[in-house]
Amino acid sequence: MTPKRPLIIGNWKMNGVATALDEARALAAALEEKPPAAQVVLCPPATLLERLGRLLVGTDIEIGGQDCAPAVSGAYTGDVAAEMLADAGAAFVIVGHSERRVDHGESSALVAAKASAALRAGLTPIICLGESLAHRRSGEAETVVANQLDQSLPDGFGAADVCIAYEPVWAIGSGLTPSLAEIGAIHRVIRGRLMEMNSSAGQAASILYGGSVQPANAGAILALDYVDGALVGGASLRAADFEAIIRAC
Ligand code: PGA
Repeated sequence: MTPKRPLIIGNWKMNGVATALDEARALAAALEEKPPAAQVVLCPPATLLERLGRLLVGTDIEIGGQDCAPAVSGAYTGDVAAEMLADAGAAFVIVGHSERRVDHGESSALVAAKASAALRAGLTPIICLGESLAHRRSGEAETVVANQLDQSLPDGFGAADVCIAYEPVWAIGSGLTPSLAEIGAIHRVIRGRLMEMNSSAGQAASILYGGSVQPANAGAILALDYVDGALVGGASLRAADFEAIIRAC
């Protein structure tokens, strides 16, 4: 089987009006000069999707949304449909990020509905999972993540590409990461479970690690078995740092 192309995704979160487009331009120029081994995706705030898409025309960098609504259209003030993201040029969308699960009370059932909406719109969902520090300390990390996985997969799992991102809540933006052995163990559980559900889709799904990925730790994390790429927050806002992570593949 041909190995999967590593996937490095940048999540700008609610940042980017001031300098991120300039950073994206610098990143695109650097990657054009020396094409990377990895597929690169940038997920800006929804208001910047189209502008970023225009800036990246002709490059190999794809764009994605950070969240989507389950419905196609209707009376959902403030929401953005997956179809709208696709219309703005997105090919991916993050769903179930812990900043949505924790801060906005999103359940795994809602995350599954959002992932189904992404597939309906032709987007690849990046489904985020991850345990809290309390669950990590009580030895429940694998169980929590496995349950989230079971409950967050879209209806169409098996028929289309999905991407899973393991992001321990306590590692996001904190500078802390699990040990390499802990990351490897969770990724192995995720891969095993996906393959039990559907062996070909389970094999094809990319499983990313996210949470304080930096140029200094990216190489070791990306070299682990069952780790197919990274979901990068803070370090994706600086072209030099993000490029160093991309080159670590
Ligand atoms: P971080 O964020 O890289 O800043 O820890 C990762 C994420 O939230 O996706």
